[in-house]
Amino acid sequence: MMWEKGMDKEKQYQTLLAAIESLIEGETDAIAIMATMVGELHNTVAYFDWTGFYRVTEPRLLTIGPYQGTHGCLRIPFEKGVCGACARTGKTQRVPDVHQFPGHIACSSTTASEIVVPVFNPKGELAAVLDIDSNTPDAFDEVDQRYLEQCCELLGSRM
Ligand code: SME
Repeated sequence: MMWEKGMDKEKQYQTLLAAIESLIEGETDAIAIMATMVGELHNTVAYFDWTGFYRVTEPRLLTIGPYQGTHGCLRIPFEKGVCGACARTGKTQRVPDVHQFPGHIACSSTTASEIVVPVFNPKGELAAVLDIDSNTPDAFDEVDQRYLEQCCELLGSRM
């Protein structure tokens, strides 16, 4: 299943989320869940060009987790980049033009826009962030945000 921007995203995301839910049924290992989510998201949505999780491994430090795409930064301090902004604020960051975002970390020169979504564990602590980069400018809208947040809630509930 593949889809392009502008198609009925609501329906496509519902199908994608249902597929993920069934794939991770009964699984409690966070890395196994992250890897499965990344594989499904990255290989389904045509405008996702880098898809991965960063995990909170030390106070105020993110470490790369499962991802698909070319190599990303291995470590991102909370003070840096869009991922850091998400980790600091605990809020989804939707960046239509990464070149306008002060402190954006450019891992790939082709990245044009990105979305970063926080993952909270059942205690309400930040456990990870989901980072998706696109080569398409302004690729992410509120529909992407809503379903990616659902995906991260699903992961967080198993952490
Ligand atoms: N999206 C980034 C960094 C790029 S990655 O390492 C793939 C940021 O937080 O600015």
